[in-house]
Amino acid sequence: MSENNIKILILHGPNLNLLGTREPEIYGAQTLEAINQDLSQLARELEVQVDCFQSNSEGELVDKIQQAKSEYQGVVINAAAYTHSSIALRDALIATGLPAVEVHLSNIYQREEFRHHSYLASVVVGQISGFGPQSYHLGLRAIVHQVRKGK
Ligand code: DQA
Repeated sequence: MSENNIKILILHGPNLNLLGTREPEIYGAQTLEAINQDLSQLARELEVQVDCFQSNSEGELVDKIQQAKSEYQGVVINAAAYTHSSIALRDALIATGLPAVEVHLSNIYQREEFRHHSYLASVVVGQISGFGPQSYHLGLRAIVHQVRKGK
C-alpha cells in the first residue's frame, strides 16, 4: 500500500454538531463544518485521506468503528460526553484493533470531576485535550505518525 492510501476516520460524538453556538466560551466559535474543512486541508498536506462523521447516537458511533476495520488504518475520536460513560465505544475500539487518538477541545481535567475519567484513554494510543480545534489537528498528525511508524 502506498503512503497516499492511508485513510483516517475522524469521529465526533454527541452535541458536537452544535459547535459554533454551543458554550463558545468553552468550545470556541468554530463550527464543526469549518473544523472538518481544516482537517481535510491538513490531510492533503499530510498526503492522507480523511472521512469525518458526527453522530449523537452511541450505536451509530459503535457501528462506524466496527465498519472502520476494513477501510481505515487509524481513528481520531472526540467521543464528547460518551467519553465519560461508554464502555460500548471502548469495546468497539478494542475489537477493531485500529490505533486511535482521543481528542477533546477543552481540557477535561480542568473541568467537572465527572469529566476527568475517560473510558477510552487506556485503549487509545494517546489523548490530546485542551487545545480547541488544534486538538484535532494534533490528533490527526499523531495518528498519521503512528500509522506510518507501524508500516
Ligand atoms: C468534549 C469534552 C466532554 O466532556 C464534553 O461532554 C463534550 C466535548 C471536548 O471536546 O472538550 O461534549 O469532548
